[in-house]
Amino acid sequence: MTASTGKHAVLAIGAATPRMIAALSSAFELHLAWEQRDMAAFLGAQGPRIAGISTWGPEGVPARWMAAMPSLRIVSNYGVGYDAVDVAEAVRRGIVVTHTPGVLDNDTANTAILLMLAVSRRLVRDDRWVRSGDWKRKGPPPLTRSIEGARVGMVGMGRIGQTIARKLSAFGCHVAYHSRNPVPGLQWRHEPDLVALAAASDYLVVIVPGGPATRHLVNRAVIEALGPQGTLVNIARGSVVDEAELVAALSDGRLGAAALDVFESEPDVPAPLLAMDNVVLTPHVGSATEETRRAMGDLTVENLLRYFTDGCVLTPVPECRRLARICPAGPAAGRRP
Ligand code: 8YV
Repeated sequence: MTASTGKHAVLAIGAATPRMIAALSSAFELHLAWEQRDMAAFLGAQGPRIAGISTWGPEGVPARWMAAMPSLRIVSNYGVGYDAVDVAEAVRRGIVVTHTPGVLDNDTANTAILLMLAVSRRLVRDDRWVRSGDWKRKGPPPLTRSIEGARVGMVGMGRIGQTIARKLSAFGCHVAYHSRNPVPGLQWRHEPDLVALAAASDYLVVIVPGGPATRHLVNRAVIEALGPQGTLVNIARGSVVDEAELVAALSDGRLGAAALDVFESEPDVPAPLLAMDNVVLTPHVGSATEETRRAMGDLTVENLLRYFTDGCVLTPVPECRRLARICPAGPAAGRRP
């Protein structure tokens, strides 16, 4: 708490929206990382006073920043994936990390299905066909493939995976999934062997958390098992797929097609992908609708507010459940900070 303002000092890193900034700056003494010309100087001067951070997926919190903030108590992540935050280090320092599960399930699942449809029906190629005048010059484009009744292998079956699987039933798809352990009570078949799942799938949809545990889970063997008739859809993290192997397999026809929302080193995208008609590319926009980002932003802010008001949080990451009380349902008890 700052003596002069009576407010806790909070640092915003990354893509905080104007609505988030308005809410944060009315409750806290807000510092914006992207406005600092010299971050090292900022950390030297203000780091010891920062009690909370709002951050987002691509940036997380660099470890040396955490070390420069001995008063840091909470990191609130604007996004469900928190692989860019060193959670083990946060736990060691007693810092609670929160994220935004649940509120983005529908739109992220919709993006997965949008990508499946776009790549199978060659939407981008056909759009180009019209704009370039090819329709007039060459007539109709080559036929495409239907997703009706397709076999879909899900890599990961958390909340978003389950939402995708439920929505795919509208297309008559046959869903099976791979995860470390079967999820109790689900109607879909669990396949412990990812290569076997890929071999039995027309589409492999990657929706598993990023981080060291899943790095290059989709490797050459998995890509080859999916094969020349198969399509890879990745809306999770670029790190989950061995991108060099993916590009090589697409280039020489060992993999049929791909739809990718995420990449290993965003915003860089391997150049060969840009020229491929059997590939659809989007710039990490799985949850990027006004509605969903508003809900994610509100939850990000609310976790900070509740922590400093009531000493509880709404949505801690699993590793931090013991570090923070979960707020009971209903409105905040205490006064806003
Ligand atoms: C966003 C995401 O791209 O929630 C996630 O994990 O990948 C996306 O919703 C981003 O992280 C927003 O901060």
